[in-house]
Amino acid sequence: MNWFSIYVLNDEWEIGQANGYRSMGKLTGSLEWKNLVRHAEVLKRKHLKTLFNADTARFERFSLTHGDLLIDFSKQRIDTTTLALLRKYAEFSQWQTWRDRMFAGEAINHTEGRAVGHWRLRAGRTAPDDVRDVLGRMERFCNQVRFADWVGFSGKPIRHIVNIGIGGSDLGPRMLVEALKAYHLKGVRVHFVSNLDGADLATTLEELDAESTLFIVASKTFTTKETMTNANTARNWLLQKFSGEEKSISRHFVAASCNVQQAERFGISTENVFPFSDWVGGRFSVCSSVGLSVALAIGFERFQQFLGGARDIDQHFFSAPIESNVPLTLALLSFWNGSFLGARSEAVFPYSHSLRLLPAYLQQLEMESNGKRIDRDGTEVDYLTSPIIWGESGSNGQHSFFQLLHQGTELVSSDFIVMAEPDFSPPGHHDGVLANCLAQSSALAFGKSSTELEPEEIQDSWGDYRCCPGNQPSNTLVLPTIEPFTLGQLVAIYEHKTFCLGVLWNLNSFDQWGVEFGKLLADRLRPVISGNVSPEMYDASTRGIVAHFSKLKHK
Ligand code: F6P
Repeated sequence: MNWFSIYVLNDEWEIGQANGYRSMGKLTGSLEWKNLVRHAEVLKRKHLKTLFNADTARFERFSLTHGDLLIDFSKQRIDTTTLALLRKYAEFSQWQTWRDRMFAGEAINHTEGRAVGHWRLRAGRTAPDDVRDVLGRMERFCNQVRFADWVGFSGKPIRHIVNIGIGGSDLGPRMLVEALKAYHLKGVRVHFVSNLDGADLATTLEELDAESTLFIVASKTFTTKETMTNANTARNWLLQKFSGEEKSISRHFVAASCNVQQAERFGISTENVFPFSDWVGGRFSVCSSVGLSVALAIGFERFQQFLGGARDIDQHFFSAPIESNVPLTLALLSFWNGSFLGARSEAVFPYSHSLRLLPAYLQQLEMESNGKRIDRDGTEVDYLTSPIIWGESGSNGQHSFFQLLHQGTELVSSDFIVMAEPDFSPPGHHDGVLANCLAQSSALAFGKSSTELEPEEIQDSWGDYRCCPGNQPSNTLVLPTIEPFTLGQLVAIYEHKTFCLGVLWNLNSFDQWGVEFGKLLADRLRPVISGNVSPEMYDASTRGIVAHFSKLKHK
């Protein structure tokens, strides 16, 4: 019996308080934290050049492999003592206990009283019955659409799928559909609409023929204003095309949601709702029915391969020891850079056009999860939490903001993500991509001193301007190629990294109260914008801007 069966078969997914949790106290006052602070003072004075020169086995010492994946972190500003101290801290943080609690289905999302079960969505044969039921229904549905057993209201096969969702109900599937272009089935195109700004939906609809279009309303809650506004407009557009025939809705709208009742109220019949449970967080939901657009784009079999990749990392994360645990190691490095070396941001550079939406996906995953200031014990933290995550596909980024990394004043740790083999292969491109990726991480790490200037560079008086200090840390993640399985691995690595970081900072990574606050204010302001409520109770800036809107509207 494997580890999954042990968990899944033994418990009935009992949701209670995470018992046995001991308060962490003030993290910065702990011996483990203080040791890292002291050690950072030493490491801050060391250059990566010196660290590499001092240790010929640095790459072997500071890299991990998992199957065909390589994770090279030798260009991080660490030495063996750093890793030892970080691992001591990890033990102090009880990372293993928290991990096991997550896999045991405890309500570790304590502020919402929920378990954290995205890993259950890909547990294969040991997944809960309802998860397997939905996967079975998704498979049938994908095949029906693919082989035109499912047709539109007027009998036309489906040629366009439009995923309407936002945040976790958009960024994950959008990133994957883009990344897996090489695997797209012929005859169907997948579009994404997320923005409340009507330009998003309007320009998408312009291209579409209602008779061959299927909308997926992806929303965990089925109440998100942006999504419901877009879904209602799309519904009206469809009804207009079918002369108000309500029955057309059930052939052209399906839903991925926890809120089946609300989806039905919208007009989507129960059999067209693909549900998931509330123990799946929005930003962790791409392996749920929120991934339906991905399954329709690449076929269900390949979607299963994607889930298989994620499962492979779940098993690794659950069973690998601290020294070889990939997600934990990445989290420890992030923790080190942010909390001890002072890096306020972390960049993600996929050296792949197909993976260019990865930074946006990771922004939500990491910043919505760990952009917090109150810890699990209810105390305000006195350390930096989530770094600002940003990035762009590698080759493009080099010609815009890389200058700041090379010669600016910010310490930034970067993740370079690169594929040994390309997904599209016009000759003469991929070697250049690999060379650029390696050149950038080397240039950032080792820099260029005045003694390393080329002869032609010292003939004028601009030598100082040409020098690059280096010492910018990075990880390089090498994947064999872009395929569903490896992307499943990549997604799960970052999901578990995010979880581990939350544990290291003693945060609950699974709520997002700040976002809820913004939503509430927008709801209150709506009637003010429409002119139905006076803005007088608002601040001077809001009042001034509202007045200016009105002036421009009535010009
Ligand atoms: O931005 C807040 C948030 O709740 C995200 O966590 C979520 O992914 C997104 O809104 C969309 O929510 P829903 O899937 O419920 O429409």
